[in-house]
Amino acid sequence: MDQRSLDSITSGDRLEGIFLVAGANLKTARNGKFFIPMTLRDHTAGVKAVRWESSQEEFREIDRNPFLRIHGRVEEYQGNLQIIIDTLEPVSASEAGLQAAEFLPRTPCDIETLERDLEQRIVSIKNESLRSLVVAILERPGLRDQLRVSPAGKSMHHAYIGGLLEHMVSLLKLADFVCDHYPWLDRDILISGVILHDIAKTTELGIDNGFNYTDEGQLLGHIVLCCNWIDEASRKVGDIDREVLLQIQHVVASHHGQLEFGSPKKPMTAEALALHYIDNLDAKLMGYMELFRSAKPGPEDSRFGSHAYMLDVRPYFPRNLDYQRPPGFTTPSSSPSRSSEGRDGTGPAKVTPGDGDLPF
Ligand SMILES: [Fe+2]
Ligand SMILES: [Fe+2]
Repeated sequence: MDQRSLDSITSGDRLEGIFLVAGANLKTARNGKFFIPMTLRDHTAGVKAVRWESSQEEFREIDRNPFLRIHGRVEEYQGNLQIIIDTLEPVSASEAGLQAAEFLPRTPCDIETLERDLEQRIVSIKNESLRSLVVAILERPGLRDQLRVSPAGKSMHHAYIGGLLEHMVSLLKLADFVCDHYPWLDRDILISGVILHDIAKTTELGIDNGFNYTDEGQLLGHIVLCCNWIDEASRKVGDIDREVLLQIQHVVASHHGQLEFGSPKKPMTAEALALHYIDNLDAKLMGYMELFRSAKPGPEDSRFGSHAYMLDVRPYFPRNLDYQRPPGFTTPSSSPSRSSEGRDGTGPAKVTPGDGDLPF
């Protein structure tokens, strides 16, 4: 499709094309007229947009269709770009001949390589019944297909196609470092916990209309879903040691660390603490780099980003900061070393907190 990519627009540009709509809301302005704030996305970025002087009928049409064909102009509003939509036409996926996933940012890593890394680590789990439990969960109908595309979050970190798998493999590598450093940790529990902790995000988040919470995601969330899946799988596996099962359930249940972040329990075992901290480390560092990529400060710009909900500060981006892939990741076009070149093209969307989105 020949249209300007959203990561290349600047204030004053005119813009036309088809974009994926996310987060459209019908609101009433002070003059009593309806307006619709929303986010327009392509695979390079998500940019805030607004349709002034709208109507309930127009909102219903937008709500029913994933795409919008628009003519608009780009303005700067409170330090950020905003698209003012002059004309719009809601477009269904079949009319556009498009799938929402084509409009979403994507991991720079090679999915097959990530899957192979994951499979190798599953095979390395020595406790046979624990390994069978992990395998039983990964064999849930449709889960492996979903895992190839799921993001790890709606907007905070790894918020792109394949982001969940990338996050899992990143944590598997961190878990190995941690287990080498603290050899008394139970590697099987930690590795299984890493694989399972966010696995239910495959059900919690859908990608058909941007990254959105499914009904199960809204009503239960990935921690409760995963604890249910573990319970179900443990009945199939049968001979799993009761204390091992309890530890795995606890590692998953407590990985957000705080009750206010959705964990029913705080970490109470060494492996649960280890998972919580490496999960937090990966989420925060990748979230920081996503903020940097989104802010794209030029040589004359302030090095402070806007306040980030995830970090609870205004991040500072030093002048010598450059995006580098996490070490050990292989992509078709890069070596696995830390000196590999930065990401190109498919950057994540501009990051703002979504409803209920948590920093893990
Ligand atoms: Fe989580
Ligand atoms: Fe996680």
